[in-house]
Amino acid sequence: MKIDHLGVAVKSIGEARKFYEALGLSVEHEETVEHERVKTAMLPVGESRVELLEPTEEDSPVGKFLAKRGEGLHHVALQVEDVEAAMERLKAQGARLIADRVQVGAGGHRYFFVHPASAGGVLLEIVQPVRGEE
Ligand code: CO
Repeated sequence: MKIDHLGVAVKSIGEARKFYEALGLSVEHEETVEHERVKTAMLPVGESRVELLEPTEEDSPVGKFLAKRGEGLHHVALQVEDVEAAMERLKAQGARLIADRVQVGAGGHRYFFVHPASAGGVLLEIVQPVRGEE
């Protein structure tokens, strides 16, 4: 296992990326995730990444987070080899999940979110990368 990425909520990816680029990081991949109503930009950091999250609508999950908490750390993503098995084990423990099913990201990676109430106050994303892309 490793930390796949840290999700950071920002008002503007265009503005926020300048800070990371000044540190020597660069955007490797950008995409809009329609069903989450968010634009994302991935910046590799060693074997992990920073994921910038900019809402496309104010009433989206990240839009609500920004309104309530402002910009900042939104979630931590752990990479696993078998996302379905991880979900089953957490369900068996009674963990509270954000959605009941594993979702598929645009790049084909599979993921789900664990509610902070079951993860020590951290919104946790469990992600299984597309084979060969980890
Ligand atoms: Co994420």
